[in-house]
Amino acid sequence: MKNSRSNWILAIGIVIVLPVTIYFLLWRVKHESPQKYAWVAPDSSTIPLTAEGAQIRYGKSLFGNTSYYLGPKGIVAKISNGMNCQNCHLDAGARNFANCLSAVASTYPKYRTRSGHNESVEFRINECLERSLNGEKLDSLSREMRALVAYLRWLGKDVPRNIVPAGAGVPEISFLDRAADTVRGRSIYAAKCITCHGINGAGVRNPDSSGFVYPPLWGPDSYNISAGLFRLSRFASFISCNMPFGTASHAKPQLSHEECWDLAAYVNSQARPDRKFPYDWPDIKNKPADYPFGPYADAFSEAVHKFGPWGPIKEAKRLAASISK
Ligand code: HEC
Ligand code: HEC
Repeated sequence: MKNSRSNWILAIGIVIVLPVTIYFLLWRVKHESPQKYAWVAPDSSTIPLTAEGAQIRYGKSLFGNTSYYLGPKGIVAKISNGMNCQNCHLDAGARNFANCLSAVASTYPKYRTRSGHNESVEFRINECLERSLNGEKLDSLSREMRALVAYLRWLGKDVPRNIVPAGAGVPEISFLDRAADTVRGRSIYAAKCITCHGINGAGVRNPDSSGFVYPPLWGPDSYNISAGLFRLSRFASFISCNMPFGTASHAKPQLSHEECWDLAAYVNSQARPDRKFPYDWPDIKNKPADYPFGPYADAFSEAVHKFGPWGPIKEAKRLAASISK
């Protein structure tokens, strides 16, 4: 009698405790461990000398020399603005904290709120082509798209599924408690950026004009208004540990957070290709605080969303979420 009762208790215990424990462990894997996973890029000299390896190497070369293949004088197609993927994804996406692409293989296909659907790697690559390179899509079956995908899969091959290594993308920068200031940004630009990126932000071209030695920051050859870098937080986070090029790093930033925000405000107030995608942000509630185009789910203007201060926007969002609960 006593025995069968304790068996029952044991059985009930297993039925309840086990699923809860498994759920909790899975939750931890998803929410905690990802950020702790340190990542070192695989050595490119280990890319195999096979047909598959050749495809991976071609993909890497496309990252570093996009303009040579696909720029205004491209030898394969003329479908982009002269920039290279590597101008923003340093070391062909292999450098931590530099729009690092270590998490692409482990996380795509992935649901993203900008498009409101599950995105394939091919879709995401084309998004950068159309926005950051102000260009046209590649066919999913083209030799170039297959090579770019093969390279990204190779780059992230050691990262377990759904894990986001610590240096993936860019580190988040804390928001300013004032509006970002274009006038301050202009003088910091003159002191710290102009030598390479030029007086008109136009960069410096290769001798044969096939691409750029120093890429443009605004003007007709730069990224368009729908690119990630056009959001002040994306720009500020990227430059905080990567610019000025050659001296700044994640371990040794050269700019203060304030300087990064003011530079972002200045650069993203200059003229650049005006191209919008009507299917962006199907649910306007998901627009990030610094997304500069309405309509919004709150009453703040486009100017406040673009330049800040973002504190009141975030507070309003928090309140709205707590009310709708
Ligand atoms: C002008 C800068 C710029 C250029 C040039 C650029 N990208 Fe990007 N790319 C970004 C930024 C910024 C993000 C992250 C956007 C965000 O966080 O919303 C990104 C994100 C990505 C992602 C998704 C990463 C992830 O973990 O979700 C892929 C894949 C990608 N880019 C591929 C490419 C390829 C391929 C090229 C060249 C054809 C390219 N990019 C050129 C700025 C750029
Ligand atoms: C010593 C030269 C140099 C200086 C100074 C410099 N950069 Fe750059 N910058 C580069 C190079 C080179 C790249 C492209 C890196 C690559 O292709 O590997 C780049 C890339 C960029 C990019 C991404 C690509 C693009 O054109 O949109 C941004 C944004 C940027 N720099 C902003 C800045 C800002 C802001 C400053 C001033 C704080 C600055 N840089 C100072 C050389 C420089």
